[in-house]
Amino acid sequence: MALAQLGQTGLAVSPICFGTSPLASMARLYGYAVDEERAVATVLAAFDSPINFVDTSNGYGEDGTAERRIGAAIRRAGGLPAPVVLATKVDPDPGTGDFSGDRVRASLEESMERLGVDRIPLLHLHDPERISFEEGVAPGGPVEALVDLRQRGLVEHLGVAGGPVGLLQRYLDTGEFEVVLSHNRYTLLDRSAEALFRSAADRGFGVLNAAPYGGGMLSKGPEAQKSYAYGARDDRIRQAAVAMEAACRRYDVPLAAAALQFSMRSELITSTVVGMSSPERIAQTLELAALTIPDDLWSELEQHTPARELWLD
Ligand SMILES: NC(=O)c1ccc[n+]([C@@H]2O[C@H](COP(=O)([O-])OP(=O)(O)OC[C@H]3O[C@@H](n4cnc5c(N)ncnc54)[C@H](OP(=O)(O)O)[C@@H]3O)[C@@H](O)[C@H]2O)c1
Repeated sequence: MALAQLGQTGLAVSPICFGTSPLASMARLYGYAVDEERAVATVLAAFDSPINFVDTSNGYGEDGTAERRIGAAIRRAGGLPAPVVLATKVDPDPGTGDFSGDRVRASLEESMERLGVDRIPLLHLHDPERISFEEGVAPGGPVEALVDLRQRGLVEHLGVAGGPVGLLQRYLDTGEFEVVLSHNRYTLLDRSAEALFRSAADRGFGVLNAAPYGGGMLSKGPEAQKSYAYGARDDRIRQAAVAMEAACRRYDVPLAAAALQFSMRSELITSTVVGMSSPERIAQTLELAALTIPDDLWSELEQHTPARELWLD
């Protein structure tokens, strides 16, 4: 799997990034629990694969469960394997909601301790929709703190990762971020992030597309996973997934392969962040990425794309 340059960061990353929120055993979002041993084994399987890019967050799971489990795997591997690029994110204080500059510094310290590393290659401002843009860029706020952490060398590069695309665009326009991550908004079922990704790619930023399966509907299937993007949506979203699954079946292509490759074939996207929580998923994902998908199936899938008013934003 050829590595790609992540914008102008100098980081070389695989076109599939290992997304670790399912490792944190968040049954409310995904519908199932994941125990520590399974989580650690998944991380070790990823380390042993052509995937060299790992996405996590201070806030995945109670008290940083995902980061703690990744840290345990790093220790078991005898240290972070050299080619692995680790990205994490700063989150508000889970008790008070504080997302000040001081909290950003504390969040990074917690992450580095849990992961057992003393430097983070890529640190994102996570879900900035939890505060206003004005609070985000205010003196003493999170953006100022992130820039300071990069200047001090604790962090190599800064990204902004979140939901609403208009807000992510505003953060990119500050000129402080080198990478953008959007989730659930560039999939078979939603294209909200396309204009954001185009403008980011045109300006030389790294572009990460997370949740190509909409959190599971397009991998486990719309019968098994009825929610899209972790919540109830207009039923026309699920109906479109059902129609897409039927079309895929006629071509003998797993829906998950089409969903994954829909993202991977876009020239705008540097890496697609896929959530996985069992070791066999790593090989399965590489197989899904390598399947041949006929042009006629792409045309059929396009016809089932939900109308714009159903997209997230
Ligand atoms: N705001 C943000 O920064 C943000 C938001 C969302 C996501 N992200 C990142 O992006 C990653 C991806 O998002 P996501 O995990 O929420 O959603 P996703 O990648 O769209 O879907 C993950 C789900 O698909 C399942 N899955 C994966 N491969 C499968 C396969 N081959 N067959 C059947 N099921 C399969 C996983 O199940 P198993 O657990 O059984 O493997 C999991 O339930 C996250 O983990 C996180 O790292 C970031």
